[in-house]
Amino acid sequence: MKLTFITALGLFLISSLQTSAQTKKTVAKTPANSASSIAAGQKIYLQYCLSCHMIDGGGVPNMNPPLINTSYVKGDKIKLIKIVLNGFAQNVDIDGQSYSNTMPAQTALTDQQVADVLTYVRSSFGNKYSAVKLAEVKAAKGGKKK
Ligand code: HEC
Repeated sequence: MKLTFITALGLFLISSLQTSAQTKKTVAKTPANSASSIAAGQKIYLQYCLSCHMIDGGGVPNMNPPLINTSYVKGDKIKLIKIVLNGFAQNVDIDGQSYSNTMPAQTALTDQQVADVLTYVRSSFGNKYSAVKLAEVKAAKGGKKK
């Protein structure tokens, strides 16, 4: 009887130790630096952008444009954010090519997720551009509608 009690106490102690170790881990991951933004952005990219822009950001010829060094990816961040927020169906040439598909507005994404996915895009596929911040997404929303 006594032994069972001690075993139970031991198990309880071990499990509470594990819980506190797990809590520490999640706290350590939280800081919103650009490395964690890139990691979060990659997950969003795989879920929301991959199907059209492909795993390497290369797009699909004549259908979906690439995200590698295009004037939009490296250009004005507010314009870039608005493409993700509002979608893009302007039938404009993108660096000399036209694309027949249209891009739907990414309405499922939070402001932070828009910042993360664009930070990921701007630092992947050979792109080396600065991070997109949450404040910039809010600015893109707060300004004029389009
Ligand atoms: C259904 C397919 C589809 C999905 C999903 C999609 N896009 Fe697009 N995207 C397009 C198409 C098509 C265009 C060009 C539209 C045009 O020419 O009018 C485009 C244009 C763009 C552009 C501007 C042009 C360029 O190549 O630089 C960016 C940046 C972009 N998309 C990023 C994203 C990001 C980031 C996501 C995920 C959050 C995403 N797209 C999801 C199809 C898609």
